[in-house]
Amino acid sequence: MAEIIVALDFPAADRALDLVNDLGEAGTFYKVGLELYTRAGPSVVEELRDRGKSVFLDLKLHDIPNTVAGGVRAASQLGVDLLTVHTAGGGPMLDAAREVAGEMRLLGVTVLTSIAPTDLEATWGRKIPSMPEEVGRLADLAARHQIHGVVVSPLEAALIRSRVEPEFLIVTPGIRPAGVGRDDQQRVATPSAAVAAGADYLVVGRAITGANDPEAALHSILAEVDLVKSDDG
Ligand code: C5P
Repeated sequence: MAEIIVALDFPAADRALDLVNDLGEAGTFYKVGLELYTRAGPSVVEELRDRGKSVFLDLKLHDIPNTVAGGVRAASQLGVDLLTVHTAGGGPMLDAAREVAGEMRLLGVTVLTSIAPTDLEATWGRKIPSMPEEVGRLADLAARHQIHGVVVSPLEAALIRSRVEPEFLIVTPGIRPAGVGRDDQQRVATPSAAVAAGADYLVVGRAITGANDPEAALHSILAEVDLVKSDDG
């Protein structure tokens, strides 16, 4: 059953927590990313935990194994539920992260949803067979190193789902309900398409935080996701 994670991409804790209050019971899982964490630090994670919310700390760690392990240990001790590390950090880094994750689940970032195939070819200096194949290769690396799941765009989720164990988590940003603009994202899909492709968690930022009525936007996405579930069942 897919869940919605609301991305709290705000420059200050008070604005983030105001949104959490506005969303009430319907908002159960929140993502704290680079901007909010750099400004507000661990206290914003503690505030969310105190309100009974689950926390996805999206720090996208990518460094030498010892340094990443230190960051992972600290996040685990903070009571974070999900934390991101870059799969491109390689096997030894993923192993070091996994060893100290404790109860926290780790997600491997594959190829950012803002990256188009031509950007990736320019960055890596080679032709890529296809985006799903590139993402799949990095997801396989994460799975081999016992990382709990991956972050992929909804466009690659179906391929990944077909080749990993059912408990391997698929988390998809790049969610845009019909009629909502793409912003800086390249590989996007609607909430229902992401769920149909096998996503476990949908990360939604601006489609909720930038809406005139964020609570209504969240409810509408929850309803759309529910419809897909009942179609399946
Ligand atoms: O506003 P929007 O819904 O595009 O926000 C998506 C969120 O998901 C952002 O917080 C972004 O950092 C995050 N994310 C992403 N692509 C990834 C990993 C995380 O867009 N590969």
